[in-house]
Amino acid sequence: MSQIDLEPVKGTRDFYPEDMRFRSWLFGHMRAVARSMGYEEYDACVLEHADLYIRKAGDEITRQLYDFKDKGDRHLSLRPELTPSLARMVMAKGSALALPVRWFAIPQCFRYEETQRGRKREHFQWNMDAVGIASVAAEAELMSAQAELCRRVGLKLEKGAEPEVIWRVSNRQVLGHFLAGMGIEGDQFAQVCVCIDKRGKITDAELTIELGKVGVDAERAARILALLDVRGLDQLATAVPADNPGLAALRELMELAASFGIDHLIRIDLSVIRGLSYYTGTVWEVFAQAGTFRRAIAGGGRYDRLCEQLGGAAVPMVGFGFGDIPIAEVLAELGRLPQLPRGLDDVVFPMGPKAFPYANRIAAHLRAQGRSVAVDYSQRRFKHVVQRAEDDGAQRLFILGGDEIAKGVCKVRTLGGGERQESEVPLAGLGA
Ligand code: HAM
Repeated sequence: MSQIDLEPVKGTRDFYPEDMRFRSWLFGHMRAVARSMGYEEYDACVLEHADLYIRKAGDEITRQLYDFKDKGDRHLSLRPELTPSLARMVMAKGSALALPVRWFAIPQCFRYEETQRGRKREHFQWNMDAVGIASVAAEAELMSAQAELCRRVGLKLEKGAEPEVIWRVSNRQVLGHFLAGMGIEGDQFAQVCVCIDKRGKITDAELTIELGKVGVDAERAARILALLDVRGLDQLATAVPADNPGLAALRELMELAASFGIDHLIRIDLSVIRGLSYYTGTVWEVFAQAGTFRRAIAGGGRYDRLCEQLGGAAVPMVGFGFGDIPIAEVLAELGRLPQLPRGLDDVVFPMGPKAFPYANRIAAHLRAQGRSVAVDYSQRRFKHVVQRAEDDGAQRLFILGGDEIAKGVCKVRTLGGGERQESEVPLAGLGA
């Protein structure tokens, strides 16, 4: 038989223990930040109804589905994102769910897309979502949670210096109101958003042709593209009428962001559209500013009509997704990946099989004290055992030879450099 392919499936990752240490460290910070802000953890299955993701606005995500028919002829998909599952769960609870709720999750998501730096076909995505809060206070709170995570993992966001990440923020109502004035609304608006999200990836001339395909003529396309160049609240105030609801929402958001101490990180930037058609209000991207990875590391937005689009009642919802891959890219490049030891405390070394039961009882005794303990059953030469225990970062080695057992003791050696210390401890005191 020919050998199996040793590589993981294209675009997916294996997590060896050293990779898991980083993942657990990162997820630990994500959980701690979310919990500190009163968000509760939830999850759904990685398998979902494919219909949840099939949106007629032409979202790229719909074309990237890992979908298939199961043996019962159901059209299923691995989830490319969690937001539609959240909407489904909220809808399933209906009025039994006392709103507002604040929930978070760290789902693994799958998208069949071109792999490139910071993007794979599988990723984990920290999500925090607030359900039932119509005020942009929820957006400010969510952005402050992202900022706290960035700080905790070692990125510099202090006032007065150039921050290493910024929040590029817009509101689809700015464009929505503007387009409504041109007679573009509803489904056509969502199609326009998906289209102009491609700006930068294709030329403006190509974009104008794309806009033509969704019914926007060249003259109106030029006005839309000009609006996307607007930066900052002052410029925006001169570009759109004072009654534009998006402008008012962005003003309010900036004030609230100040109360979270993050206003210096926010850049009002009308070029931010986001590729998901369900967003209805604030949209934002967290952008890396340091090193060479100058791309979005997280994205979020308000989607007050997703439940309605899925056939239920409209519920105000807002949240973000923050991937595990882009942040790791940024930290790696800045040399800020943490040193994470294995966390093994003690190794017990029974020199022969007769000593195994003693070793097991000693290990159990130490584990009951909360220590992480491995028993080395290898019966290898002593120096190899010591070396391996040192390499694994253990602090102590418990040695059980025939002589020790005959004397009713265990030899305990301290490891980890420094002066070698050895003592003999009675077996009875170690639960053996
Ligand atoms: P998204 O912008 O598609 O939004 O993804 C959010 C984040 O997930 C990205 O900024 C990136 O960190 C990570 N991500 C997405 N795709 C990949 C990939 N192929 N490889 C690595 N990382 C990736 C959403 O998914 C929305 N559902 C977020 C949301 C939650 N909006 C409201 N609530």
